[in-house]
Amino acid sequence: MQQAIFNGTRTARWAVQSFLAACLLLSNAAAFGQIWEGGNVENGQALFNANCASCHKVTNEVLAAPGLAGIRDRWTSGDELLVQWIQNPQAAAESGDPYIKSLVDRYVGTYGWMSAQAVSADDVKDIMAYVQNPPDVAAPAASAGTDCITVDELPVQNADNPSIWFLVLLVLFLVIALSAAGVNRTLRSAVNVSKGESPLPDATYFQRAKGWMWNNLVFVSLVGLFVVAYAVVIGYQGLMGIGVMEGYKPDQPIKFIHSVHVCENEVDCKYCHHSAYESKHAGIPSTNVCMNCHKAVKKGRRYGETEIGKIYAAIGFDPESGTYMNGAGEKGFTNPQDDFGGEPIRWNKVHNLPDHVFFSHQQHVVVGGLHCQNCHGDVQTYTVGRQARTEDINKLVDDYPGLIQLSKPTLTMGWCIECHNKAEVSLASSGYYEEMHERLRDDERGNEELRRYLEDDKITVKELGGWECAKCHY
Ligand code: HEC
Ligand code: HEC
Ligand code: HEC
Ligand code: HEC
Ligand code: HEC
Ligand code: HEC
Repeated sequence: MQQAIFNGTRTARWAVQSFLAACLLLSNAAAFGQIWEGGNVENGQALFNANCASCHKVTNEVLAAPGLAGIRDRWTSGDELLVQWIQNPQAAAESGDPYIKSLVDRYVGTYGWMSAQAVSADDVKDIMAYVQNPPDVAAPAASAGTDCITVDELPVQNADNPSIWFLVLLVLFLVIALSAAGVNRTLRSAVNVSKGESPLPDATYFQRAKGWMWNNLVFVSLVGLFVVAYAVVIGYQGLMGIGVMEGYKPDQPIKFIHSVHVCENEVDCKYCHHSAYESKHAGIPSTNVCMNCHKAVKKGRRYGETEIGKIYAAIGFDPESGTYMNGAGEKGFTNPQDDFGGEPIRWNKVHNLPDHVFFSHQQHVVVGGLHCQNCHGDVQTYTVGRQARTEDINKLVDDYPGLIQLSKPTLTMGWCIECHNKAEVSLASSGYYEEMHERLRDDERGNEELRRYLEDDKITVKELGGWECAKCHY
């Protein structure tokens, strides 16, 4: 009896095991059988952008790793090893496969090991479908509609200030006018003497100037009026401009160039400012983020090694040997500069709302679905960050569908308020809300204020409370 039960469980266990083995075989067959055929391009593109695009391009170009164009013809090591390479490159290298060995010999010295990617075999299949067949390589989302301004086209910063030259000219002109007046007077005096009359009486400059002014009263009053009017206008603009920082663009410790990264190399804003999608702050990337690429990219076209060298100085990286000093970085690569004792890069803050204002990036970017450019302008053409001007932002309306055009200077309270009055909130389009709105709008006994809100079939941020002081003020 006992024997029978024992046999029974054994048979059951055997059945389960064979079933599992069969499943595994089947799934492997599905996953590894034809990795190059039948993947989903769209899904692959999303996966590629999320996991691979920071190092690889789908063209032949090298970013921080070889470009993946033509990988199908190159990759002679079979599907299984391809998946393993992507999931765990170092383990795949231990297989001793000759192609992978050549890959390691060729690239690891310069670029370091490829980091292990948390993707499944099916994901790899989709990614490869995209890599072999990228639908439109030249249209990154970040720079929709605008052509890249390359490093070579960027204006070199001009140290000359034209108003200085204007001032120099003005002083020069005054000196000439005064000397001419002096010469004129001496000559007139000499003429008087030669005619036998008495020379012009001695007079101080002030007395002479007063005399001249009395003789040219109309001209002097016109100039005076102009000067007063000018002072009033400048004074008014100055008062209205208190707290307005449009166009502010401080120098930065490293001459970072947004256009090189965002536009030429198609690095998404999210790669460096990812917390804009998750929190109040957009944040400035840490030096480690720069090192993901600059471990390999050691020279820039505009500044050569000097500017990129500052990243290395901050984090304690020796570009010659490609290693971190004092073993920094090997201890988990969290914050090598602690180990090295280096100074973190001190970026100067460009945008700065007063402490009494609450502003959340996530609320605007994720929930509100706004483009970064709606508040920051076409950053992909900038060098370092700058506070955009409303008039420049308004020009982007053709490039960014749904961009909201405003009139008040950026980052002022009027600007926030104006947009909250214009911006519509998109409600879930299940038909549920629409029906509810219709009923509320048409209900005779309903709330008068609510009905007014619903009349135009639009719900703005203001109507949801976006004008309440406490929403923005602590
Ligand atoms: C942190 C940078 C980085 C990321 C992210 C990355 N790779 Fe790589 N990859 C490399 C480097 C560097 C190499 C070259 C070999 C080496 O140095 O390890 C490489 C090599 C490869 C190769 C072989 C290229 C050839 O020419 O044979 C493939 C295929 C590959 N990666 C696929 C991927 C895929 C797919 C992803 C995303 C799921 C990905 N990689 C993400 C850095 C990266
Ligand atoms: C996704 C990869 C990537 C990341 C991340 C990255 N860079 Fe770059 N960077 C590049 C590439 C590619 C170039 C272009 C080199 C060239 O062709 O001129 C470059 C160029 C530069 C240059 C040189 C400009 C010139 O023309 O001389 C500087 C300075 C620079 N980066 C600073 C930074 C800083 C600082 C960070 C971190 C905040 C950073 N980069 C992050 C890829 C990257
Ligand atoms: C609705 C307008 C708006 C949008 C949309 C927006 N920002 Fe901002 N951004 C601001 C304001 C306002 C500040 C100043 C915040 C402060 O001083 O507290 C700011 C500050 C920043 C800063 C400085 C660091 C910080 O967190 O204060 C960065 C970087 C930044 N934004 C990047 C982005 C990126 C990237 C996006 C798109 C993903 C984006 N912003 C979208 C309004 C916006
Ligand atoms: C390769 C990394 C990188 C990428 C990609 C990148 N940025 Fe930046 N961003 C920086 C760094 C570094 C700074 C700090 C230096 C400066 O102000 O330029 C900065 C500064 C800024 C600032 C000013 C921050 C302040 O102090 O108020 C804004 C706004 C900004 N970025 C927006 C964007 C937007 C929008 C995008 C995408 C179109 C983008 N950035 C893409 C690295 C990046
Ligand atoms: C370009 C348009 C735009 C600008 C500029 C803008 N906002 Fe907004 N804001 C929105 C949108 C859209 C939403 C609604 C997001 C949603 O669907 O909940 C929003 C929502 C908010 C909310 C949440 C309101 C609520 O009812 O919960 C706060 C707080 C806020 N914004 C603060 C600010 C501040 C502070 C500024 C100025 C520094 C600002 N916003 C500038 C478009 C804008
Ligand atoms: C949509 C966001 C928003 C709402 C709603 C809002 N404010 Fe403001 N408020 C701001 C911002 C942003 C500033 C900072 C402007 C600056 O620094 O130029 C500000 C500044 C102020 C200041 C300081 C004035 C100054 O020039 O620094 C006062 C006072 C103020 N708000 C009162 C109010 C009152 C009262 C309400 C309600 C009727 C209100 N705010 C509603 C965003 C808002």
